[in-house]
Amino acid sequence: MNYQLNLDWQAFLQNHWQKRPLLIKQGFQQFTDPLSPDELAGLAMENEIDSRLVSHKKERWEVSHGPFESYDHLGDQNWSLLVQAVNHWHHPSSALMKPFRVLSDWRMDDLMVSFSVPGGGVGPHLDQYDVFIIQGEGRRRWRVGDKIPMKQHCPHPDLLQVEPFEAIIDEEMLPGDILYIPPGFPHEGYAIEPSLNYSVGFRAPNARELFSGFADYVLANELGSHRYSDPDLAFRDNPALIQTNELATLRTMMQDLLEQPETFQNWFGEFISQSRHELDIAPPEPPYESDEIYDLLKQGESLNRLNGLRVLRVGDNCFVNGELMDTSHLQAADALCQYDTVNADILGDALDDVRFISLLTALVNSGYWYFND
Ligand code: SIN
Ligand code: CO
Repeated sequence: MNYQLNLDWQAFLQNHWQKRPLLIKQGFQQFTDPLSPDELAGLAMENEIDSRLVSHKKERWEVSHGPFESYDHLGDQNWSLLVQAVNHWHHPSSALMKPFRVLSDWRMDDLMVSFSVPGGGVGPHLDQYDVFIIQGEGRRRWRVGDKIPMKQHCPHPDLLQVEPFEAIIDEEMLPGDILYIPPGFPHEGYAIEPSLNYSVGFRAPNARELFSGFADYVLANELGSHRYSDPDLAFRDNPALIQTNELATLRTMMQDLLEQPETFQNWFGEFISQSRHELDIAPPEPPYESDEIYDLLKQGESLNRLNGLRVLRVGDNCFVNGELMDTSHLQAADALCQYDTVNADILGDALDDVRFISLLTALVNSGYWYFND
């Protein structure tokens, strides 16, 4: 399935992205769901897949976490099943994310899919991330409020909600309608009919996550061994006081590490190409030999990228799932970043370099790329 999004991206970026919510009526015309509620319920029975059930009854909220064994205990009202990273596990669903790639791969997160019966929802809340909520089958009423300071509370230890809010968007969404919500705008959706919703999320790291990730990189690569030294130490009146110039030297030691462009780029490439959710990795058995990979590509076969795999380029380096692709064939590596499917034409003369073929072989044998059966 090829999903075409009806949206003026230029105008969207200028007026809405990270600024104002937007309801895109019939963003996807004649929308067909990539999966059924039954398939979603099946995914939430799998161990590796992150899912939760949220229900409410007379202001009392309940949350339970998957994997679920049965759904028999649920009534026909006021619950919602939410499944994370469905694009990793269900190929047709991953097609729904493609139109949003124009907003950049590194910012894009996973596809969360929810199924709600009438009255079902997670309650009024805020998210830290930008999200496009696509209405699938059924109808659901969505309300979005303005971004004003709001108190958050936990009606259940696993639920963070806000107080009731005034709506700036209040709409009964129909299949194919899309609601864009920037971070910090309160929103709530309640199903009117049994309803599927697809959320394409965008992530943005905060400085804490960046520091923590960078510190891990410094440790793993044994960087920053240079030690503080003070050959011009002078006698001081107050032995307890750390002097301003000493603090400045310490800060410079840390800044120097951050300011090495190569270190920073390589760290960020590794950091940002890691997936936050498990991947459906199935390495081929037996593994391929290099010449088989070469022959298959030369015979016209294509290699497909595993859904959810993050393949990103920083400067002239390409990264896959937290690792640098060690190759001098930038054009071919860049094609592996840009395209979901590659073949001999796209990879070009890199295929005639045994080192590139052995890189490809390692990627295929890791289960990151695969040939159609
Ligand atoms: C949902 O589909 O119910 C949750 C989407 C959201 O509010 O982030
Ligand atoms: Co939300």
